[in-house]
Amino acid sequence: MCGIVGYIGKSNNALKILIDGLKSLEYRGYDSSGIAYVFHDDIKIIKEKGKVSELEKDLDFSEKINSGIAHTRWATHGVPSKLNAHPHRCEKITLVHNGIIENYAELKNELEKKYKFKSETDTEVIAVLLNDIYKEKNDIFSSIVELKKRLKGSYALAIMCSDSLDKIYAIRKDSPLIIAENKEGTFLASDVPAIIKYTKKYYLLLEDEIAVLSCDNVKFYNDSKEEIKKELITFEGSSNDAEKEGYSHFMLKEINEEKSIIKKFAARYKTIEDLLKDYEDISSYDKIDIVACGSAYHVGVIAKYLIEEYVKTPVSVEIASEYRYKNNFLTNKSLAIFISQSGETADTLASLRKVKEEKVKTLSIVNVVGSSIARESDMVIYTKAGPEIAVATTKAFIAQLLVITYMTLVLGYRKELIDSCYINKILKEIHSLDISKIIDKDYTKVAEILKDKKSIFYLGRNIDYAIALEGSLKLKEISYIHSEAYASGELKHGTISLIEKNTPVISVLTKDAIVEKTISNIKEVKARGAFNIVVSPIECDFADLVINIPKVSDILMPIVAVIPLQLIAFETAKKKGCDIDKPRNLAKSVTVE
Ligand code: G6P
Repeated sequence: MCGIVGYIGKSNNALKILIDGLKSLEYRGYDSSGIAYVFHDDIKIIKEKGKVSELEKDLDFSEKINSGIAHTRWATHGVPSKLNAHPHRCEKITLVHNGIIENYAELKNELEKKYKFKSETDTEVIAVLLNDIYKEKNDIFSSIVELKKRLKGSYALAIMCSDSLDKIYAIRKDSPLIIAENKEGTFLASDVPAIIKYTKKYYLLLEDEIAVLSCDNVKFYNDSKEEIKKELITFEGSSNDAEKEGYSHFMLKEINEEKSIIKKFAARYKTIEDLLKDYEDISSYDKIDIVACGSAYHVGVIAKYLIEEYVKTPVSVEIASEYRYKNNFLTNKSLAIFISQSGETADTLASLRKVKEEKVKTLSIVNVVGSSIARESDMVIYTKAGPEIAVATTKAFIAQLLVITYMTLVLGYRKELIDSCYINKILKEIHSLDISKIIDKDYTKVAEILKDKKSIFYLGRNIDYAIALEGSLKLKEISYIHSEAYASGELKHGTISLIEKNTPVISVLTKDAIVEKTISNIKEVKARGAFNIVVSPIECDFADLVINIPKVSDILMPIVAVIPLQLIAFETAKKKGCDIDKPRNLAKSVTVE
């Protein structure tokens, strides 16, 4: 939530660098944006409501600017407006913020005696507080150290001080921030896409550090102002990851990238030995909790079905925002697995920390290298899907599915429940899995049927239910059509009353053992007027419309079955003219509770 960029350097093109950076981070928030830059020895601030393109219109790119900070917002405190947009300034302090200050009301109360506030944001409180401390200390570094002591909550902050315009200062707690440098200058950003055009190497700012960026270098200090030497991280993707490369939308590009993701995994894991090398031994745990949010939670539900079926180990799947506030009955024989694309989701991170306090072993499945969840877990498996820009996850979801499939295979092998022969068969199948035909199918006909509907239902049993959950979420996220996923057998306990003539019902039908049961449920809704769309590898003459998918081994069916659901959502949203990559009210990386 919220994207931050900062630049200071020799280039006079800072405005372009900052705006391009903001655009690449717009997936983090896009209800308003703003920029602060050094202009004639002072700080000039420009803000706009709406997308970064609105802000861009206000800027004069012929101005020779070489230092500034910028922000794209996902509102938490205060409506999206020019006034509430960042940067916020109080006298000598100007800053941008990603996160939430929990004690902001208390701080504001205190500061209101001396200062008049202009916005409703918690961020302005930080600017005012820092300015207040600075007035007393007259030293920006020690003022920032003091500020850190006073703030409760999460923050990534880029700070400019009118008395030291040749520097930008950065700190963070529970919100991501990376720092980079090249010959042209130094950069800070919430995520890699903002800097990838300039360098692939970056530093990860840690919570006990303060970064001081200047034209020629960046230095890191601890609170006692001792310099810290840090290791550079190399981003493994390409600069094209932040470009649409001819696709109309990032979401479509990312769905197409699922092909290469499967190929990469297949090339890496050709034999059981390859898997044993990468997947740590977790066979000694007799209970597994999987904790995640959103789509990552759905991967958890799929993992539960796989692990319980193939490995005979009980698995609880929990929504992180619930898990963090309940009793979880963990023992030293329990393993907690956290799934997260961003590795920064506040509730997932809080759940991880809670479990760690109980001294329970943790494993995370994460996409973003070096993210908080990855760093704080005992074990980590990276999904290596590359940066995902569209808010609705697709390729990262497929990569997570592959990881949990491999994990199930290795776990089953170590527990002597799955033999190497079966594993080799599955590895070969992944190798020859061709999803191009699924992606290239025409989904516009389904989209035409769905686009004007008020409500749509998704059905499935067992693992098909888990896939249905994801299909439903994808559709509502980007097309704004109300949809619900139901375990097929549960529908008749209430929800079936909502089925009317032509209500679309999309059923997932992949699991041989229970196909007949779901078919009965499909017939039940048909009898009540539903328009049945079925995603399945089998003949379905009982359906009104069939989306045929290839028949692969059961364990791989989720990968094949979810792709049409992603594309149905995409095409429906497209027909409705929705902003597919940046759906209203959403943000990709939810770093607040
Ligand atoms: C947001 C995104 C979802 C994502 C969820 C969890 O809601 O819009 O696509 O599944 O957060 O994010 P994570 O980064 O932890 O996977």
